[in-house]
Amino acid sequence: MRSHYCGQVTEVFLDQDVTLCGWAHRRRDHGGVIFIDLRDREGLVQIVIDPDTPDAFANAERVRNEYVLRVTGRVRRRPEGTENPNLVTGAIEVLARDVEILNRSEPLPFQLDDDDTSEEVRLRYRYLDLRRPVMQERLRLRTRVISTLRHFLEQAGFLDIETPMLTKATPEGARDYLVPSRTHPGSFFALPQSPQLFKQLLMMAGMDRYYQVVRCFRDEDLRADRQPEFTQLDIETSFMDEQAITDLMEAMIRQLFKDVLDVDLPHPFPRMPYDTAMQRYGSDKPDLRIPLELTELSDLMAGVEFKVFASAANDPNGRVAALRVPDGGKLTRREIDLYTEFVGRYGAKGLAYIKVNDVTAGREGLQAPIVKFLPDETLAKILTRTGAENGDLIFFGADSTKVVNDALGALRLKVGHDLGLVKNDWAPLWVVNFPMFEWDEQDQRWNALHHPFTAPRSDDPAEMRANPGRCLSRAYDMVLNGSEIGGGSVRIHRQEMQSAVFDLLGINPEEARAKFGFLLDALKFGCPPHGGLAFGLDRLVMLMVGASSIRDVMAFPKTQSAACLMTQAPAPVTETQLRDLNIRLRRTP
Ligand code: AMO
Ligand code: AMP
Repeated sequence: MRSHYCGQVTEVFLDQDVTLCGWAHRRRDHGGVIFIDLRDREGLVQIVIDPDTPDAFANAERVRNEYVLRVTGRVRRRPEGTENPNLVTGAIEVLARDVEILNRSEPLPFQLDDDDTSEEVRLRYRYLDLRRPVMQERLRLRTRVISTLRHFLEQAGFLDIETPMLTKATPEGARDYLVPSRTHPGSFFALPQSPQLFKQLLMMAGMDRYYQVVRCFRDEDLRADRQPEFTQLDIETSFMDEQAITDLMEAMIRQLFKDVLDVDLPHPFPRMPYDTAMQRYGSDKPDLRIPLELTELSDLMAGVEFKVFASAANDPNGRVAALRVPDGGKLTRREIDLYTEFVGRYGAKGLAYIKVNDVTAGREGLQAPIVKFLPDETLAKILTRTGAENGDLIFFGADSTKVVNDALGALRLKVGHDLGLVKNDWAPLWVVNFPMFEWDEQDQRWNALHHPFTAPRSDDPAEMRANPGRCLSRAYDMVLNGSEIGGGSVRIHRQEMQSAVFDLLGINPEEARAKFGFLLDALKFGCPPHGGLAFGLDRLVMLMVGASSIRDVMAFPKTQSAACLMTQAPAPVTETQLRDLNIRLRRTP
């Protein structure tokens, strides 16, 4: 039907005939001559239709926006002064001989080049939204990312193996999406939260190196970087330890950035222990582009008069920390109030601060209501530890360690963005030495920080039981610009250890057998040491294209409430379907 893509017609084709297919992006009538910008996947080209070709002209007069056309004509240079340097095709135009309307279009519900269209409308008419060049560009980059990663892994001997979608629950910390079974009344499949157990079983099967670009399903609270179904690049290897796995994975990401964006990432990526990340950034996924850090003050505050600080400092689960903002003295009262409100969302009960007018003038150089509650010596230490300079502002957080880390960690990001301190750079790192378990206050039990199949540092189940809170795991996360783009671990490959971990997590032997009997059995038959990781492909692509939501790099994403506005899914089903599935709905109150 066509000889070229619209966006490919350049001066190379001068005086040649081309046949193009595409959408009428815009039509302009110019005193007897009609101009149509014809658009396809590769770009725009200007078509000129002259009344000298009456059939073509008559058709062109009927053309409206988004009509689908097939145009044949001759490529010619644009008249001097009418070139468009912003278009690849901007030096030429196509003088049409033949204009064929392949299909008409009703007026669109929104203008494609209106950047302010609401996301709701964009999602309802996603097929139109995807016509926009920016969306086409993003999905093309996504294709390139996936193909580069596949190529790398195939070169490295990884096998692409599919795993079931109708399966049993794999715990990754979210709720399952369930699928009722018709043939087994009362029983349900779960859609996989990840292929975790299957990829481990593939190692037990001797496949040695596995990968898959795979959809995962998690019924959890959605955010800009979370979708109920999303894509992982899922990887597992045998006979490789954490050093070998992380080396290979960062080599892959380095190559990806080089090939696709021509960016050189650091070699090697920095590695940061989890503890350090929490201490210095209040987060296990620190954005290292922002040059602000938290300063530990707990040890200084145990004896001070200011109760809020002293009580947090004396609580074993408490923390007092500072965030120095260079040149923050210029923040207004109102801005500080807004930051106080902001940290309140993370549970902080206040946001004390000190304005540093003159570091050499003792307490006289400091301005804040709390200064009077702190001894000279403490004030001096705060200044040295934070490295304060004249004109700075120091924020304080005092509360449970969790609240301080959440609040000051988030404040660090917010202030960094607000004050334009984010370096225009790529800042990848590995976060390592994660704790194996975290104590759940509410349910009074241990939870796995990663997942229950992650190996502890110690090979001795007794040592792990003796002090679960201090036990470190063999997990690692890859973080890029403050986003967790991938995570994984070396796995448990001995049955005794797996049973011990289930036990510690409060999964009794019967429950363990019912849920994971196949895994416990498989561990008995010569399971190799193995480990791997999974990348969140959507997140990776989002960062690479500079989008602010993973929805912008998925063709058909869901809304915040996990619905599809285009197909209106989820939707009720018929009584017959329910009966087939042996399901009767509870009345909603
Ligand atoms: P994890 O749960 O950390 O690990 O998931 C791996 C990566 O997947 C991405 N991700 C998501 N992306 C979009 N929407 C979501 N709802 C979502 N949830 C997670 C993140 C994350 O780093 N089986 C383990 C991996 C392993 O141990 O090998 C797992 O799934 O970028
Ligand atoms: P108050 O004594 O409640 O008036 O608080 C004095 C200052 O300490 C105010 O700036 C509060 O915002 C701040 N503040 C109160 N509680 C905390 C807290 N838990 N962490 C940090 N600052 C706090």
